[in-house]
Amino acid sequence: MESQTHTFPSEFVWGAATAAYQVEGAWNADGKGESIWDRFSHTPGRIHAGDTGDEACDHYRRYAEDVALMSGLGLQAYRFSTSWPRVLPEGRGAVNRAGLDSYDRLVDALLAANIRPFVTLYHWDLPQALQDQGGWPWRDVAGYFADYASLMARRLGDRVRTWTTLNEPWVSAFVGYRDGRHAPGLQDETLALQAAHHLLLGHGLAVQAVRAAQPHAEVGIVLDMFPMETDTDLPEDRARVEQAWQTGTGWFLDPLLRACYPPEALRAYGALSPHVQPGDMSLIAQRLDLLGVNYYSRLLLRQGRRVEPVPGAEYTDMGWEVHPPALRRLLNRLRREYPVPPLYITENGAAFPDEISPDGRVHDQRRLEYLRSHLIQARLAMADGVDLRGYFAWSLLDNFEWAFGYSKRFGLVHVDMGTQQRTVKESGWWYAQVIAGNQVF
Ligand code: FCB
Repeated sequence: MESQTHTFPSEFVWGAATAAYQVEGAWNADGKGESIWDRFSHTPGRIHAGDTGDEACDHYRRYAEDVALMSGLGLQAYRFSTSWPRVLPEGRGAVNRAGLDSYDRLVDALLAANIRPFVTLYHWDLPQALQDQGGWPWRDVAGYFADYASLMARRLGDRVRTWTTLNEPWVSAFVGYRDGRHAPGLQDETLALQAAHHLLLGHGLAVQAVRAAQPHAEVGIVLDMFPMETDTDLPEDRARVEQAWQTGTGWFLDPLLRACYPPEALRAYGALSPHVQPGDMSLIAQRLDLLGVNYYSRLLLRQGRRVEPVPGAEYTDMGWEVHPPALRRLLNRLRREYPVPPLYITENGAAFPDEISPDGRVHDQRRLEYLRSHLIQARLAMADGVDLRGYFAWSLLDNFEWAFGYSKRFGLVHVDMGTQQRTVKESGWWYAQVIAGNQVF
């Protein structure tokens, strides 16, 4: 264990993140429309234990209490997502004023507490009405997404400077339309690749829309990066690791930063590749002010086989290996190989089965260690030359972990899902000290 202190630059942004469907609840309150996650979680058999996001953390109503919690931890920034069907119940057309007002109140409360809002426009909760007409594989959705982005930027742009369009479009497309484990629960790889293309197109159009509404906005996107690595020198292992990168993360990075799909991945996808119209690629490759990196773990390949479990490694409750050095390697790969804008770690964290102890506290030492070791690797990457501007712990609150329902706890703050009681965990108090001192110890 390292005992050194790692100091961060004074402008480094310290935050925590959530997503609308995972925390808001109030799934049909005040005129909100149905999202694909409402439909999916209400379908028997889709979610662990039949859990739904109907109530979640009731953050929609308890936002003031939650902002006070953030304030108590000294958070400088809060990354949250807005729910498209809450403001546009049909996905387009009539605006739900009450929904828009709710984000106004949240932003105002954050600013009053001196917490900078980082808004994500899409964290997987597509309006069901648009899914009914085809969802992301339907090209028009990209344009409707830009209209929604424009609406949000016009309403909040006087107070919100930093926007990200999509959270983890790989997951939206492939887990939602190919693997069927997420909403809308389809299993069709051709549809998934077309969805991915339209997500990218929607991103490009939304960047333009946000900038048109607010010329000084900082706009970016958040990608999941769960790299496959190998520790052998076998050419087959190296090739497979590279192919996994190109067909996964690279499939999004290249269009965004180089205006083309990675050639090797296009060959690998072959006939599954999406239909691309002239002009699409340059629309997708809008200048970015920031790139959000979500990092949790890596996969290890050895002699053609996935190594699982990795001998001696620690695993989280998600079954994800705890492997902080891959974060440093990942950030350096981005720096070396791509024309990246400033980076933020927009999600990093760990699920463990926390409990409130008889002393009333949550002794989540393993999460604390996870955060600590990843922050050290992030700091080392900065010393290597990576332009990393901030870090958001996932998550502020224990919340609805998608297909796993409430069975996985990621929060810095424990939430009792029966009473909605919040209890800051030891990791949360530790993170508060990190922020206060601007250093990891
Ligand atoms: C990411 C998601 C986030 C959360 C974490 C654990 O893929 O963006 O909503 O579920 O995983």
